[in-house]
This record gives sequence, structure tokens and C-alpha cells, in this order.
Amino acid sequence: MTWRATVLTLFPEMFPGPLGLSLAGRALEAGLWSCRTEDLRQHGLGRHRAVDDTPFGGGAGMVIRPDVADAAIKAADVPADVPVVYLTPRGRPLTQQTVRRYAQGPGVMLLCGRFEGVDERVLQARGVEEVSIGDYVLSGGETAALVLLDACVRLLPGVMGSEESGVEESFSEGLLEYPHYTRPAMWEGRAVPEILLSGNHAAIAAWRRGQAEETTRERRPDLWSAWLARKETNRAVAV
Ligand code: ADE
Repeated sequence: MTWRATVLTLFPEMFPGPLGLSLAGRALEAGLWSCRTEDLRQHGLGRHRAVDDTPFGGGAGMVIRPDVADAAIKAADVPADVPVVYLTPRGRPLTQQTVRRYAQGPGVMLLCGRFEGVDERVLQARGVEEVSIGDYVLSGGETAALVLLDACVRLLPGVMGSEESGVEESFSEGLLEYPHYTRPAMWEGRAVPEILLSGNHAAIAAWRRGQAEETTRERRPDLWSAWLARKETNRAVAV
């Protein structure tokens, strides 16, 4: 079954964009997923097809009208069990867990904002999930939508070969990946860690685990605390 992505945007030409190439592009051609757009402008009002208006209460910027956003949602004609996601820096952070949930469902409908945002009422009335891809502000939701789609598509059945399939595991376990090395064994005076040439698979696995833990502790104290807490709980359960 085809996993369906529907994107509501003022810039339909931005899709599938880079997702038309490489792994996602081949999957798109193979029909493992589809990428449709719904142009918000088509649902704009008046001679200028206005999609936005000034914010009640004053302030800078413009806000996408609820009636315009809703007309686009309805025109997209997507089954009721497809989650509607609005990309915004004030959304819940996108995690691998959320990505897995989307990838396991029938698809997603992504609402891309520009300007200050979208009228709150349409988000509430249509049960829209608000998602952020990180603590920085993009000029619009489109690039965030591409990120979300990339993360989902690579998980669809048949998309990843054995070649690409490894990376998921370490992250879903809650640790960052261990470092990788390939030939030559010596490069610019830098040797590959001895243990990796030992052929001792148990020792290599233990070394990699140690590296993953150290990197996680250094770079991502948030993930590290969560990992430690989980380890503690598992031990408590086992006892
Ligand atoms: N739109 C603008 N910035 C964003 C972000 N960080 N995440 C998701 N959507 C956005």
C-alpha cells in the first residue's frame, strides 16, 4: 500500500524537491509513497487570493486565515485517519518515536505556514498536531516538512536496503552512534583503533557501546539522563 504525503503550502514547487532523488526518490518512483500538494493560494479570498490577515490584538506579521486553511484541508480530501500536522517552532519536538508512528500509519497531511502563523481555531477544530523540528526558526514550514517526510519515508517497508538500515537502531535505543572507520588503516598519521582490527566481535561490540555512551554523555546530556533513568528502571524491574 502506498504511504500518502499531502502537503498544504504556498510553494507547491518545493515538493518533492530533494525527496525526488536518492533513496526517497527511488521509493517515490516505485510507488512506495506518494507526494501530493494542495496550493493554499487556490483557496485564497478575493481578487488577490488573500490567504492571511493582520493579527487580532495587534503585533507584527500576518496570520493565515482559518477558513482558507480549512478549505485547503477539505480540498485535499484525505481519509480521516491521516494525521494533520502543522510545522511550527512552537510544536512538540519531532522525535524518532513520532516519526515511527507516522510511518506506520496511512500517511500524513502537512500544513506549512509562512508569516506569523495559522489561526489557532482551525488547529483546534481539525485536531491538528503541532510539530517542531528543532529550536531555531525557519522562514517557513516547507523545509521542516521535507525533513519530516525524509525521516518517515526511509522507514517505509521496502525503502531501505541492508546498506542503509543500521543507523536507526542505536538512536531508537537512546544513544548516539559510535564512530566509524574504513580503509586505509593509517591515514595522515592517524591509526584506526586497534580493537577494530582484532576480529574479536564481542570486544568490538563492547568498545562501540562504550564510545556511544561517552559521545552521548558529552554531546547530549538530555539523552544521557533519559538513558540512565531507563537503565535504572529496567534494573528495578529485573530485581
Ligand atoms: N517553521 C519555522 N521554523 C520551524 C521549525 N523549527 N520547526 C518546524 N516548523 C518550522
